[in-house]
Amino acid sequence: MAKKMWAGRFEKATDKDVNDYNSSLPFDCKMYSQDIEGSIAHSQMLAKQGVISSEDAEAIRKGLLSIKEDIESGKLTFDSDAEDIHMFIEEELTNRIGDAGKRLHTGRSRNDQVALDQRLYLVDEAGEIIELLDTFVDTLIDIAKDNLTTYMPGYTHLQRAQPITYAHYLTAYIEMFRRDTDRLGAARDRANVSPLGSGALAGTTYPLDRQAVADDLGMNGVTLCSLDGVADRDFAIEFASACSILMMHLSRLSEEIILYASQEFKFYELDDAYSTGSSMMPQKKNPDVAELTRGKTGRVYGDLISLLVIMKGLPLTYNKDMQEVQEAMFDCIETIKAVLPPFTGMMKTMTIRKDRMEAAALEGFTNATDLADYLVKKGLPFRETHAISGKLVHYCIENNTSLEKLPLETLKQFSEAFEEDVYDAISLKTCVEGRSLIGGPAPETVKRYLDSI
Ligand code: ARG
Repeated sequence: MAKKMWAGRFEKATDKDVNDYNSSLPFDCKMYSQDIEGSIAHSQMLAKQGVISSEDAEAIRKGLLSIKEDIESGKLTFDSDAEDIHMFIEEELTNRIGDAGKRLHTGRSRNDQVALDQRLYLVDEAGEIIELLDTFVDTLIDIAKDNLTTYMPGYTHLQRAQPITYAHYLTAYIEMFRRDTDRLGAARDRANVSPLGSGALAGTTYPLDRQAVADDLGMNGVTLCSLDGVADRDFAIEFASACSILMMHLSRLSEEIILYASQEFKFYELDDAYSTGSSMMPQKKNPDVAELTRGKTGRVYGDLISLLVIMKGLPLTYNKDMQEVQEAMFDCIETIKAVLPPFTGMMKTMTIRKDRMEAAALEGFTNATDLADYLVKKGLPFRETHAISGKLVHYCIENNTSLEKLPLETLKQFSEAFEEDVYDAISLKTCVEGRSLIGGPAPETVKRYLDSI
């Protein structure tokens, strides 16, 4: 085992089990590129401030870039007993460039270094996730535009309630996912500040230019308290929370896809390429992508809860417990990145059975409210018309028919106010088109909304 960089005050080497237990290299190696980027910015600034020579800074820069290249080409692997990615890269750098490598860590601690790496990593990955989410939302918008007049029942309590359109239904999810995009963007922007210069906890006496490092790294600013800079991981928690809300929305949509693709509903037919079969039952076509997404929601919630519990009650400032933040954060990122592409593909390729949706909208008395509203327009009070409409629904159930099929004489037995124009007033088209207020299902309204976003 290589001698530890901090071995000076120790008489014994680290126990092998402790070394393995302590090492974060198996997972924090993911942040090699951010670690190198941060080290180059730090060393360049050290040279500008006259803390190290510009020759050393140049040797460090070249050395770090060659390490990056070798990692990416597979020439340099992480099978090392180094304690973490920071030690791994620094050791490798010193092996390559000698004494200059030993100057890199001047005015820096792994405590501010790891906080920086995690922030940079999160910013990069959040950017990718937001792009995937944008593509997904664009897909939903395209499908909605093709279905402005595709009638379907809207549900409350999973009982048919009032007629809407499929475009209007998708609009609900488009709004949810647009808020998710905002939340992820806000979490990314808040994470994008540099803690470098916080040192181990109390800053440093070297004349560091913290802002210059932040600018170099494309960050929005610097953290304003050195203790906070090394001690908090709220940026990871906030991000995992935005991811959890996103997964909650995806899981609700998944549940409906599973339901709507069932033989009972048959609103959707999933594309063969996005469904799976059964090893025993030859007829099966299963909505695995949606089910897995529903399942992975639990996993992302788990990551959020892990992060909250890891950080709960920790005394200021850095504690090794915080190393555990990394895996939960990575898992959250990887899960979302795995979910979105197949989910988008599934939505894009599935067949929407407009006939089934419309048939369902025509059943279940979804126009009963409009019938009551019709009588209100004829001058009756709503509480009375609600009761009349309810009695008519009951009559229809007894006689196995629907409101719009009742002859005018029958309607008149329930209220004299009914006239010939009732049939138009309770047609699906009128029910939907009449709801043209902001946020309503009228095709014109939904089109205006879709064109505006
Ligand atoms: N691998 C460590 C982590 O992720 C880096 C920081 C180590 N700092 C320390 N004081 N031991 O937390």
